[in-house]
Amino acid sequence: MIISCDNITKAFGTNKVLKGLSFTAKEREVLSIVGASGAGKTTLLQILGTILVPDSGKIYIDGVDVFSLNQRSLSSFRNQKIGFVFQFHHLLPEFTAIENIMLPALIGKYEKASVTYLSDKQIRSNAEVLLAELGLWGKADSRPSQLSGGEQQRVAIARAMINNPKIIFADEPSGNLDSKTKQDLHDLFFKMRDSHNQTIIIVTHDESLAKRCDRCLVLKDGVFV
Ligand SMILES: Nc1ncnc2c1ncn2[C@@H]1O[C@H](COP(=O)(O)OP(=O)(O)OP(=O)(O)O)[C@@H](O)[C@H]1O
Ligand SMILES: [Mg+2]
Repeated sequence: MIISCDNITKAFGTNKVLKGLSFTAKEREVLSIVGASGAGKTTLLQILGTILVPDSGKIYIDGVDVFSLNQRSLSSFRNQKIGFVFQFHHLLPEFTAIENIMLPALIGKYEKASVTYLSDKQIRSNAEVLLAELGLWGKADSRPSQLSGGEQQRVAIARAMINNPKIIFADEPSGNLDSKTKQDLHDLFFKMRDSHNQTIIIVTHDESLAKRCDRCLVLKDGVFV
């Protein structure tokens, strides 16, 4: 199991959001998480992505008990193993598309998260390969404000992929796109899994996407039902 989580709880004050949630995910699995607004989907994704600490419970990612790592090891681990695609892409506006894509690799390099060191030139060339793979050839030097919503989301996917992580978490990645662009974006997730063997967990309100996934997990009253 690439992800195994056991009995996760998380409350914000008296608001008990996750109430002993458990599940596992296999390598190359594409899972969807659905549930009502406020059910705790983003909270769960943040916990699985190791950016939010649960109140109790254990999470193993690729065999590592992630919350037993110290801050520095955890941030390296996250940089190398996990890619995030957020609902509103969170691209840095002052950087170009290619620079946004390169960023996690540069951070990994200068924080010495990786055991292999690529030159900046190699990082750029890897970013260019992803750019082409995601149909963004010619957009390398555009800033996010000069890109369409779908293009911005594809840059965000490329950024999530640059360190070739084992897992991608996506939080409503197609939430603000029209149906054709949405469809194309969904296709990319499956294509990425096929070509890069990633495990992909997607929070979505989109029924057709949820149905296309290998499994659909429904979050209700703090647990998967
Ligand atoms: N940092 C926080 N502080 C306090 N409460 C929070 C915090 N983050 C989330 N919550 C609360 O936790 C609950 C779950 O929020 P979460 O964002 O995980 O929901 P969601 O399932 O992602 O909803 P949506 O579909 O609207 O994105 C909500 O009641 C929310 O108000
Ligand atoms: Mg959410």
